[in-house]
Amino acid sequence: METPDRLQRLEKLEKEASLGGGAERIKAQHGKGKLTARERIDLLLDEGTFQETDKFVTHRCTDFGLEENKFLGDGVVTGYGRINGRPVCVFAEDFTVFGGSLSLAFAEKIVKLQDLAMKIGCPVIGLKDSGGARIQEGVDSLAGYTNVFLRNVLASGVVPQISAIMGPCAGGAVYSPAITDFIIMVGGSYMFLTGPDVVKAATHEDVTYEELGGAMVHNEKSGVAHFAVDSDIECIELIKKLLSFIPQNNLADPPISEPTDRANRMDTELDDIIPASPNKPYDMLEVIMKVVDNGDFLEVHKHYAPNLIVGFARLNGRAAGIVANQPAVLAGVLDSNSGMKGARFVRFCDCFNIPIITFVDVPGFLPGTAQEWGGVIKNGAKLLYAFCEATVPRVTVITRKAYGGAYCVMSSKHTRTDVNFAWPSAEIAVMGPDGAVKVLYRKQLREAKNPAALEQQLVTEYTEKFANPFVTASKGYIDAVIRPVTTRPRIIEALEMIDSKRDTNPSKKHGNIPL
Ligand code: HXC
Repeated sequence: METPDRLQRLEKLEKEASLGGGAERIKAQHGKGKLTARERIDLLLDEGTFQETDKFVTHRCTDFGLEENKFLGDGVVTGYGRINGRPVCVFAEDFTVFGGSLSLAFAEKIVKLQDLAMKIGCPVIGLKDSGGARIQEGVDSLAGYTNVFLRNVLASGVVPQISAIMGPCAGGAVYSPAITDFIIMVGGSYMFLTGPDVVKAATHEDVTYEELGGAMVHNEKSGVAHFAVDSDIECIELIKKLLSFIPQNNLADPPISEPTDRANRMDTELDDIIPASPNKPYDMLEVIMKVVDNGDFLEVHKHYAPNLIVGFARLNGRAAGIVANQPAVLAGVLDSNSGMKGARFVRFCDCFNIPIITFVDVPGFLPGTAQEWGGVIKNGAKLLYAFCEATVPRVTVITRKAYGGAYCVMSSKHTRTDVNFAWPSAEIAVMGPDGAVKVLYRKQLREAKNPAALEQQLVTEYTEKFANPFVTASKGYIDAVIRPVTTRPRIIEALEMIDSKRDTNPSKKHGNIPL
C-alpha cells in the first residue's frame, strides 16, 4: 500500500474517532447542557498540548449485536497533556458511545494511563460520565473495573488523583472516584451504588436520581464528594485551581508561586476578632482570610461537617493546607463527620508534602447518643491518628478554646507539631470552667448556704488559673503567645524555618487507622 493511502486512511480514522458516538448523540449531549468528552479535555488542558492515546482501540465483545458498533476509542478519550505547563494524565468518559459504559478495552485504556502516570509521577484526572459496567460484556467489564480500582489504590499517595462527576456515575463505577483524592460533582450529575428502581424494590422508597445521589446529596449528607459546581466549565476551572496547590507526586514539593501579598502584612482587625464573651461565636473563615495570601482560600468539603473547615491557601506564595474549628457552627465542636473530614484532608496533605496550619477554637466533642452510637470515638480518633502520623511541617494557632481531648487532637504540640502559637485569648484546659467547677466542688456546692455565689467565685478562680494560655506556655506546650495581629508574619516565618524539616515514622507495612 502506498504511503499516501495510509495517510488518507489515518485522516479518515481520526475523523471517525473524533465524532465519538456520532453527530446526533453529540447534539443530545449538548441538549442536556453537557460538553462532550473531547470538549472537556480541550478546555482542561493547555492549548495544543493534548496527546491522545489509544484513539483507535475498539471493544472486542461481539455478544448482543455489539459487532455492528465498533466505535473508535470505545467510549473513553485518554491521553496526556499539560495544565499551566505541568504534565497530567487525563481520561474522559464519552457518554455518546454506549452511554459511556465501561468495556474491558475501555478499562485497559485507563489502566495504561494510570500506569504511565505512576511511572512519570503526574496527577491523573478522570472526567466521569457513564452508565457503569457495559452490561453486554458481563464479567469482563467487572474485571476491567477492578483493574482500574487496583491502580487507584496503588497510585493513592503516589500521584494526586482527581475525579469530576459530570453525568451519571452508576453501580460499581463509583468506587474508582471514591478511592481518588478529590471528587467534584457538577449539578445534574449523580452517583449511586444501587439505582432508584432497586431502592424502590428493596425499601419502597420512591426517589429520583438527584434525591438519591445528586451533587448536593454527596456534598452535604454523605460527604462522598468534596466540591459542588454548577457547570462543566466551572468544574474544569476548579480542577485547575485545585492542582495549583498540589505537587506532581509524593516526591515533589508543592508549587511555590511568586508572592503577591506582603509577608509582613498585619491585619489589625485580628486583634478584635474574638468576642468579649467566651460563648459568643465568630467566623473562623474571617481569621483564615485575613492571614493567608490575598484572602484566597479554596475550601474543601465546604458543605459537609462545616463545624470544621479544611482547605488550601498560600502563605508568601507557598501552598499550605488549613484545618480549623469553626466556632460559628455548633460552637466549633468536633463530631464524627468532622473527625473523618479532617483526617482525610490531613492525610492528603501529609502524602503530598503540603504543610498544615491548624487554627484551634474547640470546646470539646459533641455529646449525645447519636454521636456515641455513631462511633464518635473511632471517628474522632481518625483525626488524632492523622495528625500524629503526619510528618509534614506543621504550625498550630490556638485562638480561643482548646479543651480536653479536642485540645490533644487538634495538632497539639504532643502530636509532633513543629510550632505552636496561642493568642492571649486562648483558654487551654481539661474542660470548661463551668463543667470543671461542678465536678470538682460538687459536695461543697451542695452544702453551701449560697451555692450560686460560691459557684461564681470558683468559676472565676478556675478561669484565672486555667482559662488562659500562660499555664500551658509555662510548661512549653506552646512555643509562644502571640498578638493576633502578628499571626500572618509569625506563621510565614515559622513555615520558612521548618521548610527543611525531616521526620519519619517507624518502618512498617502500614498503620491500622481506626476506619
Ligand atoms: C450498556 C448502556 C449502559 C450500560 C447506558 N447504556 N448504560 N449500555 N451498558 N451500563 C446505553 C443505553 O442503552 C443507551 O443506548 C445509551 O447508553 C444512552 O443511555 P440512556 O439510557 O438513553 O441515557 P439516559 O436516559 O441519560 O440514562 C442514563 C442512565 C441509564 C441513567 C445511566 O442509561 C442507565 O440506567 N443505565 C444503566 C445503569 C446501570 O444500571 N449501571 C450499572 C451497571 S452494573 P441506546 O443505543 O439505546 O441509545 C455496574 C456494576 C459495576 O456498573 C461493578 C464494578 C465493580
